[in-house]
Amino acid sequence: MSSFWNIWIIVITLGTIFGCWWLLQSNSKGERDEGGEVPTTGHIYDGIQEYDNPLPRWWFSMFVITIVFSLVYLLLYPGLGSFKGVLGWSQESAWQKEKQEADEKYGPIFAEYSKASIVELQSNRKALLSGQRIFANNCAVCHGSAATGSYGFPNLTDSDWLYGSEPDQIKTTISQGRRGAMPGWGPIIGEQGVTSVAEFVMSLSGRKVDAQLASKGKTLYETTCAACHGATGEGNILLGAPNLSDNIWLYGGSPELIRHSIRNGRNGNMPAHKDLLGNDKVHLVSAYVYSLTQGD
Ligand code: HEC
Ligand code: HEC
Repeated sequence: MSSFWNIWIIVITLGTIFGCWWLLQSNSKGERDEGGEVPTTGHIYDGIQEYDNPLPRWWFSMFVITIVFSLVYLLLYPGLGSFKGVLGWSQESAWQKEKQEADEKYGPIFAEYSKASIVELQSNRKALLSGQRIFANNCAVCHGSAATGSYGFPNLTDSDWLYGSEPDQIKTTISQGRRGAMPGWGPIIGEQGVTSVAEFVMSLSGRKVDAQLASKGKTLYETTCAACHGATGEGNILLGAPNLSDNIWLYGGSPELIRHSIRNGRNGNMPAHKDLLGNDKVHLVSAYVYSLTQGD
């Protein structure tokens, strides 16, 4: 924060507090004179006069307490410009402390869990619940709270896998991250090429297509796409090239969206979580993700 804004905030904050104090003092009428004549404000509505009583004592004290509280608070905690407060409290240090406490408490439990393999953990309900919580905190923003994904973020509950569904493959994905690299083909094969190859791609999942266009697209597919997506569109988990024959689409299956994928390319990015979570948590959340693929 620049020193101008620093002073600006201090002046406004303290000015408001002392302004309240001044307003309170300047309007205070002191103690009510018992038994004496109650003065009126001089306002009369429909024959009813308005008394000019002082504020009740308790009410007045509450204002004073609020003002004192705010001054003490601003002395102890950050709030006045860049002054850090004498307690040295900050959101970040509070979060660090909480995280450290949690790590100390759960670290050994997670370490114990990660001695078992991902397959063995499938019968440990508690471990899977912990994994689910790690998922909710770190992965749900992208993959959805039920892990069903959305446009550009893969569904982790179905049987369609970009990078493989074996325990080790899942763990590698989460630990090291993945980057899908589908080049844009528009400039190379032209708009007509895009249209025809898209028609062929749709025919792979048994959709109704224009047969003439699709047969033109087939030749293009074999020369430009098959290297990554496979001769029959079955995909390649080493490259993260999706299966194009199952009618499950990461980026939408409408003809326009499929043409968009082919014309402009796609570059999905799954961030690496090894450093962020550490091996034990990655192991647990991998067990949770693996459990989503079991049982159906
Ligand atoms: C910033 C968004 C983001 C976050 C956070 C994220 N992911 Fe991903 N994840 C992706 C994207 C995008 C892909 C697809 C990558 C691609 O298209 O090549 C992906 C792919 C995956 C895959 C591979 C799916 C497949 O079909 O092979 C798994 C498994 C996965 N993520 C699990 C997780 C887990 C577990 C976490 C939390 C620890 C997580 N992801 C956090 C965006 C994210
Ligand atoms: C270098 C390897 C490679 C080549 C060559 C390639 N692709 Fe891809 N393609 C990929 C990858 C990897 C992805 C996934 C991108 C991601 O995860 O973000 C992909 C994604 C797609 C998608 C989106 C799938 C979905 O589920 O939404 C379509 C459609 C597609 N490719 C069609 C084609 C066609 C048609 C060609 C030939 C003109 C082609 N690809 C050539 C690697 C390739």
